[in-house]
Amino acid sequence: MEKLALLGGEAIASDIQIPAWPPTDEATAQALAEVYRSGNWSFGGPHEKQFAADFAAAHDAQFGVLMANGTVTLQCALGVHGIGAGDEVIVPALTWPATAMAALYVGATPVFADIEATTLCLDAAAFEAAITPRTRAVIPVHLYGGMADLEAIQEIADKHGIVVIEDCAHAQGGRWNGRGLGSHGAVGSFSFQQSKTLASGEGGICITNDENLADRLYRMKHIGYGDGSKQGAYSSGPPAELTVYNFRATEFQAVILQGQLANLDALLEKYNRNAAKLEEHLHDVAGVRTQGRGRLATRQSYYAIGFLFDEAPLADLPFSLIQQALGAEGLTINATYGVVYKHLLFNVPPEKYRIAAAGCSIAETIGAERTGILLHQILGADDATIDLIAAAIAKVVGNAAALRAHADLQNAPE
Ligand SMILES: Cc1ncc(COP(=O)(O)O)c(C=O)c1O
Repeated sequence: MEKLALLGGEAIASDIQIPAWPPTDEATAQALAEVYRSGNWSFGGPHEKQFAADFAAAHDAQFGVLMANGTVTLQCALGVHGIGAGDEVIVPALTWPATAMAALYVGATPVFADIEATTLCLDAAAFEAAITPRTRAVIPVHLYGGMADLEAIQEIADKHGIVVIEDCAHAQGGRWNGRGLGSHGAVGSFSFQQSKTLASGEGGICITNDENLADRLYRMKHIGYGDGSKQGAYSSGPPAELTVYNFRATEFQAVILQGQLANLDALLEKYNRNAAKLEEHLHDVAGVRTQGRGRLATRQSYYAIGFLFDEAPLADLPFSLIQQALGAEGLTINATYGVVYKHLLFNVPPEKYRIAAAGCSIAETIGAERTGILLHQILGADDATIDLIAAAIAKVVGNAAALRAHADLQNAPE
């Protein structure tokens, strides 16, 4: 086994080329310039209408409502169901804080439940165990390169009369059992923030197959206007109990997204091929496993691909050391978000949320401390780069003993 770069050996992946993100192209630049010249910058333009319809259709939903970001989409998905004060919303412990903040924004209490050790997504049994008479909604998150078990979660939710909102911020274009993600639950919420697989700087969309919910979503994001209303010309107001906001997106976001949507199938095909290649390369390497895809994933989407270092011979080495060793080889691997209730940005007092009684031990250990992620653009690299990435990971894992000796030396008393 070659010597680790961290210990003075040669870096194996120092020259890898990773595609730039977000993508840019001349046709979109031209289309943006046309929107600019048109003066039609705000809501309800032709690009917004077309993109919302096309995105929804691509995910097997009838309606799409474009919004400012993928946090307010979650807030609206809860709000249109009348969820608010006194209600509980179950969310996975491992996710970006926005999933839980959305519950707080409508006045409800987020309840954190544990994840599966394979997909890193909400564990259906943990969800069921966390249900109380106050539970109104559950938000499974299709995290990084995994998918929550929609069938199992829906079945439990139906039994208890709980609304399923899919957080698909990481899962544009993903398909579960032949059908688009986001169209399985009552509402699917997506983010188009700059780092996402479809990116417009900021942006988000809710999709649904329920016409009444679509109308409520539109009114909630557009200060009460119904779809199709011209500015200042409203023929009907929002329902009295619906609090409405300005969560609108602009025509500029829509036009950027249109170009990327046209390319999404090709992008995901490449991502899936390269993810499979990485999985295959690392299949027999003891000490690392790749994040499990969705159980019934017919097409996995990727915000990132996860690598779990939770088995011998690496299980006892701190993730930061593995990260350092991979970095020295030329591969930047990030830590996960960690559990929301320990996240530095989650400044919410403990009385405003609840951790499920069974705890979230898998999220706190495997999810927060043993997993590294490579952001999705790496899956767009060429074959040689993918081979080098796998080789760099295998090299670090194969040098576990040397890494441990290095750590012991560093920790030894003076
Ligand atoms: C899982 C998840 N949900 C929701 C969001 C919120 O999306 P946005 O940043 O567009 O508000 C994010 C953003 O990263 C996310 O990762």
